[in-house]
Amino acid sequence: AQHIPDILSPEFAADPYPAYRSMREHAPLLWHEPTGSYLLSRYEDVERAFKDKESVFTTENYDWQLEPVHGRTIVQLSGREHAVRRALVAPAFRGSDLRDKFLPVIESNSRELIDAFRHKGEVDLVDSFATRFPVNVIADMLGLDKADHDRFHGWYTSVVAYFGNLARDPDVAAAGERTRVEFTEYMIPIIQERRENLGEDLLSTLCAAEVDGVRMSDEDIKAFCSLLLAAGGETTDKAIAGMFANLLVHPDQMAAVREDRSLIDRALAETLRFTPPVHMIMRQTAAEVTVSGGTIPAGATVTCLIGAANRDEERYRDPDRFDIFRDDLTATTAFSAAADHLAFALGRHFCVGALLARAEVRTGVGQLLDAMPDLRLADGFVPREQGVFTRGPRSLPVRFTPAGG
Ligand code: HEM
Repeated sequence: AQHIPDILSPEFAADPYPAYRSMREHAPLLWHEPTGSYLLSRYEDVERAFKDKESVFTTENYDWQLEPVHGRTIVQLSGREHAVRRALVAPAFRGSDLRDKFLPVIESNSRELIDAFRHKGEVDLVDSFATRFPVNVIADMLGLDKADHDRFHGWYTSVVAYFGNLARDPDVAAAGERTRVEFTEYMIPIIQERRENLGEDLLSTLCAAEVDGVRMSDEDIKAFCSLLLAAGGETTDKAIAGMFANLLVHPDQMAAVREDRSLIDRALAETLRFTPPVHMIMRQTAAEVTVSGGTIPAGATVTCLIGAANRDEERYRDPDRFDIFRDDLTATTAFSAAADHLAFALGRHFCVGALLARAEVRTGVGQLLDAMPDLRLADGFVPREQGVFTRGPRSLPVRFTPAGG
């Protein structure tokens, strides 16, 4: 029989891509005892699960992974309830709000972080930029006190560990639950105060939002903010780090992006295909369903392997090659079913923050390239990814000519 490393094994964590290939080829529907779920690895099947109108593939099963730390959020909801809850928050992440209110926040936060290291000549891009930037942007968008950015970052780290806790380590779980308590104690008074003094920030928008007579309670808003830490922080963090890792080991493509900044969008799309920040997304079956020749019973948990689907040779030519110029991928981030890759999912739960993520990447990466024209990896350093559920470079030490020196 074909050897397919277990998704919880060190071999898989070191490099999941050979295992993904074996799954696509030999076991596109694979029962996985430890997570109690069916693994889907082919593009066609993962796309189908995401696009499903929730008659078969629902999001109910998120509860163990999200509920104890965030409470109830739109990711866990389905049907009409999801549609209304999503409509309450979605407008803040596109159009004029994104452009007028948040672009300046994105620009200043990126600038601030870069200014802190541009005179040094060396930095770890993951520690000093990628893990900080998106979380600071969210805190600022919400209109939270700058002095709280470090605390916010601490909660972010704990929430991210909780979400990735596939092996259900009790210490990680307990830390996540403590974060819920601390985050609630921090946020609820701020939300209550903001309701009395609405401003231009995202928290005010959420306080005022109303769809079909439905408004968000204090707890709803707090839960959504908590979700943003993980959904908007970790993902964009890993996208930026992954993009630099991919470009730094492909200097010709890095040179092309330096030359023409409009290629950042293509580089992002290819990074999200080639090394997606989120490798696995769960669904639950509401009815029995046949997939890749096998049957999944009703009530089963399904793990959609985005990292595997995005390397499917049936969908992409030469899928294991990083190529920002590939013609089977466009760089649109439309809120539509037009699928370039599955990194933002598809269908009803398609990432609400996709445009924000792109704006952050355009700005952050553009500013980093401007500030460091000769950015290169530290001597002998080979970027390595870490993580199973979410995945990205653990560190990225780079060198450059210091500003002013
Ligand atoms: C949903 C990935 C950036 C907020 C999702 C989902 C994925 C994803 C895969 C679908 C989850 C599911 O179907 O179960 C990413 C990636 C990002 C990114 C790869 C960066 C490159 C952001 C940002 C924000 C955000 C910047 C906001 C600040 C959300 C929210 C949802 C979501 C609120 C839930 C949508 C729903 O359930 O209707 N994201 N995301 N994401 N994302 Fe993102």
